[in-house]
Amino acid sequence: MSTFNIAVLDGDGIGPEVIKQGIKVLDQVSKQFGHQFNYTYAPVGAVAIDQTGEPLPEETLALCQASDAIFFGSIGHPRFDNDPTAKVRPEQGLLKLRKELGLYANLRPVAGYAQLTHLSPLRPERMKGVDMLIVRELTGGIYFGEKGRRDNGNTAYDTCLYTRPEIVRIVKMGFEAAGNRRGKLTLVDKANVMESSRLWREVTREMAADYPDVELGFMFVDNAAMQLILNPAQFDVIVTSNMFGDILSDASSVLAGSLGLLPSSSVGAQVGMFEPIHGSWPEGAGQDRANPVATILSAAMMLDHLGLVAEGDAIRTAVNETLASGIGTEDLHPATQVGTEAMGSAIAEKVRKV
Ligand code: IPM
Ligand code: MG
Repeated sequence: MSTFNIAVLDGDGIGPEVIKQGIKVLDQVSKQFGHQFNYTYAPVGAVAIDQTGEPLPEETLALCQASDAIFFGSIGHPRFDNDPTAKVRPEQGLLKLRKELGLYANLRPVAGYAQLTHLSPLRPERMKGVDMLIVRELTGGIYFGEKGRRDNGNTAYDTCLYTRPEIVRIVKMGFEAAGNRRGKLTLVDKANVMESSRLWREVTREMAADYPDVELGFMFVDNAAMQLILNPAQFDVIVTSNMFGDILSDASSVLAGSLGLLPSSSVGAQVGMFEPIHGSWPEGAGQDRANPVATILSAAMMLDHLGLVAEGDAIRTAVNETLASGIGTEDLHPATQVGTEAMGSAIAEKVRKV
């Protein structure tokens, strides 16, 4: 039996509801496999701004640093989105957390579910064989480069800066992931325009010699956006910079049919963070309508990362079986529509039976 200390940052909007279902499933896993998960909750995002004035209070960061893993819900509130002059924003909490914890790699798997192909905006034949992993650099690039205003605020700039070590560590993760999958890595960049992209290409090409079993390809980001829609099955692992990864992962997330299905992990030197890729959906909060599957699958990624792969598999099997049984939340237009709570319970029940 092992004990793990998990920081739970459930955040804003639907975050707390979907996290609750994730914990329900984790509790079932702990019973089944005899582990102990200790959860400590802490505020982040708009909720934290309301309570403390800060989107990432010191205590929350300290808790994360002292934990074995971070289970994250979602952040964001429209009252900040519509106010360009807001000095503090919920998103700053997430960015600071990534930076402070050195979470430089964001892994976003995208795969279609056979029983849900009708939900995809793409025709079923285009969805056939879609199974990719987007490896997004998460603590560098234009998100974190120098930014500011000049000319009395009338000129604004953001800088995209990457160092060789920053590129090496994320591209290494891309090669390794490809080696464990179908052996194909695509570096997505804008090397026809950007100097930082040219450094990415240079470094990646040099590294390719160490991974003779991986087939390396390069693609410009505008073409990649098109290819993700025209022929998504061609991709195995995509490795890319922070902002390109942000945009392409949202675009590819709809392929599966619902944003509510897709998990993610953010990893780096120390503790990892696991969260659904969807946002806080404030309009749906508190109504038992949100799809908890992305969060539950993020819990499975968390277990993998903690070395509990059989336990992670048990969750994935339970999710597959639940979706195959025709039960689902409203976004899945299922035969039997259930709420957030009932969906979490159905999946937990399947875990009990694996
Ligand atoms: C994401 C989100 C964040 C990002 C926002 C909320 C800052 O869009 O995790 O993809 O841009 O990284
Ligand atoms: Mg995003």
